[in-house]
Amino acid sequence: MFNEQWLAELKSKSDIVDVLSKFVYLEKKGSKYWACCPFHNEKTASFVVNPREQYYHCFSCKASGTVITFLMEHEKMTYREAIEWLAKRVGMTMPEEEDPQARQARKQRESALAAAKEAAHFYFEVLRSERGEPALSYLAERGIQSKTVTEFGLGYSPDYDSLPRYLSSKGYSVETMLYAGLVTRNDQGRISDFQAKRLIVPIINARGQVIGFGGRVIEKDKFPKYKNTSGTALFDKRRTIFGLNRIRKLQQSEDQKALILVEGYMDVISLTQAGIVNSVASMGTALTPEQCKELKRFVNLIYVCFDGDAAGQSATWRSLDLLKEAGLEVKVVSIPDGMDPDDAVKKGGKEGFSVLLDRALPLIEFKLQTVAARYRLDSPDGRNKFAKAALAVLHDLDEITRDVYIQVVSEMSKLSPESIANSLRDYRVETPRSRPTQAEESPAEDGFVLTPELRARIIAARYLLSSVFAHKDYVTIDALQASYFDYPVHKSIYEYLMRCVSARRRPVIGDLYDLLPEGRGEIDKMIEAIDKVSLDKQLTYYQECIRQLDAGKVQKRKKEIIEALKTATDPDTVQALKEELRKLTTK
Ligand code: UTP
Ligand code: MN
Repeated sequence: MFNEQWLAELKSKSDIVDVLSKFVYLEKKGSKYWACCPFHNEKTASFVVNPREQYYHCFSCKASGTVITFLMEHEKMTYREAIEWLAKRVGMTMPEEEDPQARQARKQRESALAAAKEAAHFYFEVLRSERGEPALSYLAERGIQSKTVTEFGLGYSPDYDSLPRYLSSKGYSVETMLYAGLVTRNDQGRISDFQAKRLIVPIINARGQVIGFGGRVIEKDKFPKYKNTSGTALFDKRRTIFGLNRIRKLQQSEDQKALILVEGYMDVISLTQAGIVNSVASMGTALTPEQCKELKRFVNLIYVCFDGDAAGQSATWRSLDLLKEAGLEVKVVSIPDGMDPDDAVKKGGKEGFSVLLDRALPLIEFKLQTVAARYRLDSPDGRNKFAKAALAVLHDLDEITRDVYIQVVSEMSKLSPESIANSLRDYRVETPRSRPTQAEESPAEDGFVLTPELRARIIAARYLLSSVFAHKDYVTIDALQASYFDYPVHKSIYEYLMRCVSARRRPVIGDLYDLLPEGRGEIDKMIEAIDKVSLDKQLTYYQECIRQLDAGKVQKRKKEIIEALKTATDPDTVQALKEELRKLTTK
């Protein structure tokens, strides 16, 4: 996205210790800096910043990365925002600032954001004025207190004209209002408030910027019930999660490891008022991968609350799978009697709702229960059908979890675990897109199949790279060969090293995190690999790794020669191949 040269300059000016010092108290010990980890609660420092390698690592929660990832994770900035923040800090102009078009677009965006913020302010003030009466009494009827109104910045649009008039008086152009989706223009050119006469719920992104509004009707017979800002450059429904700005604030003062995902704005508002402060809402549609990724930036565990009838629907299952695929641990909360979270917390209070949370089922159990509910488990035929349907659920699991749940399905269906395991094996053959199951140690990447032989090679390659980055004097970059690296992340690291050599740049681990954001797990393993071997054995281990990787190369070449010999006809070629094979064999 950015010119590599420009980025390198920015990074060289953005020393990790300088930048992180703004957010955490760092204490120098030897060549490194230590702190209590800002990503989890702790009393003794296990967060280390390595200025030479320009990265941080927490030995306890395993958070790791560079200045850029730090800003992304700690300050919840996007990649771009982090770059902008750093550039501003050191007085570098963004590369595209020279491009007048890009500059124009940025200016437009900035004034649209300012206009949206001003609009939120306007709506908020109106709600508390005489003109806000209809909305205030609606809120009172729903039991929403004044404190909550303030906390969420709720507002009211009194009519069609007031907002545009107000924004004009503040110097905003009609173009800006249109750009931000605040107003619409009809065929006669008349401008009117898009949310006229609605109760206003501002939609604020994780960085605290107002990007849009949800407007709720307050008369019962009007519809649609909600109108959301739509199709603007500021607000993308598919990427937005309502309430994350509050979660970010919350996480600055306390440890929040879990989020509660609900469907509606009002659910979040109502739960918060009742003292359950960690809820967020999807925007009323099926979740997108982008939304799931966004959630994963904040927590590892998510409680999903769907309204009563949603449990068995395929859109629901898809959303749950997406959350899991984003790396979140998913628990499903069932709310009884067709209530929504708002109803449930009104009825049972904080305690009642907490009980529901405690009873939440892990995703897999939720799925099995939902499947089981479709059959009569008190009849042999029903149990059989259930077991068949359960195969689809079991099939998605990794090996270890699968064994556990084969047992569970066996108990529920009264079929033997063996017969379920057998059916499962057949089931897997039938499905077209069955992914290989990978054991813990194996690097996870789509389509990368690990054989035991390959795994050994990857462990060896990992150790070589680890030695390079630990600046061990027994290894030089020249000793590495492209053929040593099978695993895609390793290949990319190797290519990075080659680029460093030709640009005469010192390789730093920090670069890897930015270069390979998806490979972070593997980068961490790579860094740690060296420390798993004691100092006095490191050289021997290194030599052993090289031997192993070279042997792999020889084996591969031998196979190639044998294949080539099958078809070769030219006597000279045959002779040369045989000679090479002989050499390889006697070596
Ligand atoms: P809900 O109907 O559950 O919303 O729809 P709610 O917030 O609980 O509303 P109340 O309690 O009736 O006031 C869930 C979400 O779906 C979106 C909104 O984001 C809403 O919060 N939605 C719903 C719309 O965008 N438009 C609609 O007409 C309805
Ligand atoms: Mn509701």
